[in-house]
Amino acid sequence: MPKQNGIEGYSKEWTPIKQRFVKGFISTNMIMVVGAIKRYEREGWTNRINRHYYYFDMNAGSGYIDELSLDGSPIIAAKAAQSVLVPESVTPYMVFVEKEQEPYKQLRTRIHNSSFSFMPTIWHMDNRECITTLRKQNPIMTKSFGLAYFDPNGPTQLPVEELPIFANQWPKVDILINLPAASYNRVRTAPQCHSLPYIHQLIKAIGKDKVMVREPEGKYLWSMLGFTNGPALKWKKQKFHLLDSPYGQRILQKLTLTNREREGIQTTLFDFI
Ligand SMILES: C[S@@+](CC[C@H](N)C(=O)[O-])C[C@H]1O[C@@H](n2cnc3c(N)ncnc32)[C@H](O)[C@@H]1O
Repeated sequence: MPKQNGIEGYSKEWTPIKQRFVKGFISTNMIMVVGAIKRYEREGWTNRINRHYYYFDMNAGSGYIDELSLDGSPIIAAKAAQSVLVPESVTPYMVFVEKEQEPYKQLRTRIHNSSFSFMPTIWHMDNRECITTLRKQNPIMTKSFGLAYFDPNGPTQLPVEELPIFANQWPKVDILINLPAASYNRVRTAPQCHSLPYIHQLIKAIGKDKVMVREPEGKYLWSMLGFTNGPALKWKKQKFHLLDSPYGQRILQKLTLTNREREGIQTTLFDFI
């Protein structure tokens, strides 16, 4: 299996957990959005929303993980949209972004051969470029609900500068990031190679009201960060906690600092964020 930035593209241990998590998170997010749309409509606030759900898969991949016989995130999301959104007449707008030629082509073929009642858009580009292009077209999208998923192969592929721009542009679109914290911190502490903020600084820069964090797994400290301006998804069964809780703070401390940094620090992260 190819290694990128010291971690494998797919991990036998983490990827099955991740795909289960992503499937549950996306379906639940869609169910919550359908509930929110109905609430807005009941209250007569239809001018504040539209019946659209945007899903951005910013690291789409090929749509299938052959090594593990698992659906990739674009297919997981499209299946969820078909079963949750379509029956409720909420229109899915799905944008799959992949910068490498081979996975892009495979995903395109997979989508064209599928029988979804909607047609996802597949962009062969860098997600950084995608975010700046979207921003130029529509500086602010206040009415649209949805989710953007970032699942890079390694920390240097995470668009840390563009994430806050995206979060600001799409206030009702939640964000989910798959983050290998140990690899991230290894790159962060070698700033001559690549400049990365601390994880707690990145969270603050994204600036959504509520943040959820998943207890890390394995030696790479694989974790998930969720961001929303709506209701938070507390999901203890999946080890997913509100950052703003004692347990969430403990997880954050484990993620944001290396062992060496932790030994030298006395303050709590409440002082940071
Ligand atoms: C871990 S894989 C994605 C897996 C996919 N989310 C899934 O569940 O099957 C990461 C993918 O992101 C792509 N990628 C990396 N950097 C990117 C960027 N800046 N813009 C778009 N795609 C990128 C890689 O080519 C790779 O296919």
